[in-house]
Amino acid sequence: MSDQSTNASWGGRFSEATDAFVARYTASVDFDRRMYRQDIQGSVAHATMLCKVGVLTEQEREDIIQGLKEVQADIENGTFEWSVALEDVHMNIEAALTAKIGITGKKLHTGRSRNDQVATDIRLYMREEIDHISAELTRLQEGLVGLAEKEADTVMPGFTHLQTAQPVTFGHHLLAWNEMLERDFARLQDCRKRTNQLPLGAAALAGTTYPIDRHYTAELLGFEAPTENSLDSVSDRDFAIEFTAAASIIMMHMSRFSEELVLWASAQFRFVDLPDRFCTGSSIMPQKKNPDVPELVRGKTGRVYGHMISLLTLMKSQPLAYNKDNQEDKEPLFDTVDTLRDSLRAFADMVPHLMARKEDMREAAMRGFSTATDLADYVVGKGIAFRDAHEIVGKAVAYGLETGKDLSEMTLEELKQFSNEITADVFDILTLEGSVAARNHIGGTAPDQVRAAAGRAKARLISRC
Ligand code: ARG
Repeated sequence: MSDQSTNASWGGRFSEATDAFVARYTASVDFDRRMYRQDIQGSVAHATMLCKVGVLTEQEREDIIQGLKEVQADIENGTFEWSVALEDVHMNIEAALTAKIGITGKKLHTGRSRNDQVATDIRLYMREEIDHISAELTRLQEGLVGLAEKEADTVMPGFTHLQTAQPVTFGHHLLAWNEMLERDFARLQDCRKRTNQLPLGAAALAGTTYPIDRHYTAELLGFEAPTENSLDSVSDRDFAIEFTAAASIIMMHMSRFSEELVLWASAQFRFVDLPDRFCTGSSIMPQKKNPDVPELVRGKTGRVYGHMISLLTLMKSQPLAYNKDNQEDKEPLFDTVDTLRDSLRAFADMVPHLMARKEDMREAAMRGFSTATDLADYVVGKGIAFRDAHEIVGKAVAYGLETGKDLSEMTLEELKQFSNEITADVFDILTLEGSVAARNHIGGTAPDQVRAAAGRAKARLISRC
């Protein structure tokens, strides 16, 4: 990167060159060059619009578009020389264009400012990234729903307070994660709507004296509409904050998901096996297989939360309109995009290959008196009030703890000690399968309900494309 300290783009009123360190301190090109494609896309649309309204001739428009294409090719084949003295992606590209096509290049900036230009670039960039992230999210959900169908009959303990509560099906548990991601998807789409508005035309802050056609530019760039207010257009970054908020919620969900996988892959739980290619070993302990991917997703959640707080704080108390502070929006935003996209990708690749250890899950469900509520409901069915039924079953559990027996392993005589109302049909409900099958309503854990819910989830995913 070259480092001259004069700037031809705005140097006119200055009597000394920018201090070399200040030039570096204020430059954003090291990171905003990531938006070069969107910057060129915006400039092509701007030049097209300027020609339509008679500000540029057709020849000028063609020269500009051709020049921008060449600049893009230079960037993509690595021959472009980025310059810190030219501050940012916008001025680097404009200077390169002018170097290629001469004076016409200097006309591109007519009727716009870097303030509306950068706001446009970020929105174009965010719109694309929201689409990529949505696609990864969809892929992850497809994996979850497919696995849920496969595991609709697999019984595991369900937990509250991380204590065995009631048996559930593994498919049902997987679909719980899918519901969280379904809402996350909707949040992203909602954020996309507010991102998909055209700020270009706001110019520095007040609009421009040229007879621009903002509706036309919006149409060229696929934006839903031009923004309503020029001051707001160049200053606010709420769409970016909203994105980091949606990203934070997704990462929060992914961290819960991760935490369970880490626990479940441990020798203490043994509920799942993660494919080896998503794990690593230990350099000292030969027996180790560490669940690195979920651990890292859990860890990376923190930095995404941090980026949301950075952006909120960046905007806090900013007076209208554009302030240079806003240049600080990009790094948190870019890192949020990278972190979220990679985390979703890793999970989308891994989830279809999760191996349920059905026997271990079953055994764990047998161990925690997970059908105690079923026994209480059964006794209620025999005409006993729920509070009394609770007491009866509590005593049966105490007896089970003493004797090392699950409720389903006790004889009828043993069970009758606690209530005379208990008869032989109790064993239908004391089994794990009986317990899950009985929760047979929408939202319940019964295998038939899980299959139906997976079917609906699939239909929703298909209707996205
Ligand atoms: N690099 C700047 C940013 O990211 C572009 C806009 C600069 N505008 C200005 N008047 N200096 O926000």
